[in-house]
Amino acid sequence: MARAAYLEKLDKVFKSVREKTDFEPRVGLILGSGLGDFAKEINVSFELPYSEIEGFPVSTVPGHDGRFIFGTISDVPIVCMKGRVHYYEGYEVSDVVLPVRLMIKLGIKTLFLTNAAGGLQDGMSAGDLMLITDHISVFAPNPLIGPNDSEIGPRFPDMTEVYDLKIREKIQEIAYENDIPLETGVYCQLTGPTYETPAEIRMLKTLGVDAVGMSTVVEAVAARHMGVKVCGISCISNLAAGLSKNPLSHEEVQAAADQAAPRFTRLVSEVIKTL
Ligand code: HPA
Repeated sequence: MARAAYLEKLDKVFKSVREKTDFEPRVGLILGSGLGDFAKEINVSFELPYSEIEGFPVSTVPGHDGRFIFGTISDVPIVCMKGRVHYYEGYEVSDVVLPVRLMIKLGIKTLFLTNAAGGLQDGMSAGDLMLITDHISVFAPNPLIGPNDSEIGPRFPDMTEVYDLKIREKIQEIAYENDIPLETGVYCQLTGPTYETPAEIRMLKTLGVDAVGMSTVVEAVAARHMGVKVCGISCISNLAAGLSKNPLSHEEVQAAADQAAPRFTRLVSEVIKTL
């Protein structure tokens, strides 16, 4: 889509949301597959199904409920995305990151990304939580390809510290204080929707990847482009292909997320209180 048309679309969805709520969130939280239960922690002010926003991309994956939830966690105003759209659903990558750009227009200063991911790191098990320290974007489409609008961000944005170091240190501290085991590592986004082959997983492991999934990186790139702080946590829903005897399934992803949910909820809500 041409740049001017895209910016018009962003403006249109922004106005459409602003017609319904004047809520000003400070933190944007995207809940990954199976992690939607976190929404119960929110003191809800207003809920907005994506389907009620004209021109907004709507997820087609079962278990990916699509709505914005505006509210507070211990007085911190947040907007939570229960469900996201993925590139593999057939949307342009610019549409995949439209919700992130919208949340930034709505006022968020920090984007908290979460996902379900396959684990590659030695010693990892399904149900582990992993703090994302960095990412590899080269296998995902870059959301900044196309003419750049310098009002949104620079043409060649720096990506030295995508995942904010101070927030990462805070997350590790909070995990330690709350007795929540937390791995750290590099996340890589592939397009999906196929899970990887064992050969692909061996390649990713050689490249230094600790967790693999089908989201998050494009959203982190779009947010850093606009100067917003980013942090992220992966819920390791399965060992990556070839690392366990089982074939991968979406059901397994959901089950591991359920197992991790209490730890995930505690950690994320304690962190949000400090943002
Ligand atoms: N690969 C890619 N995406 C995923 C996986 C995986 O193993 N698990 C959950 N999302």
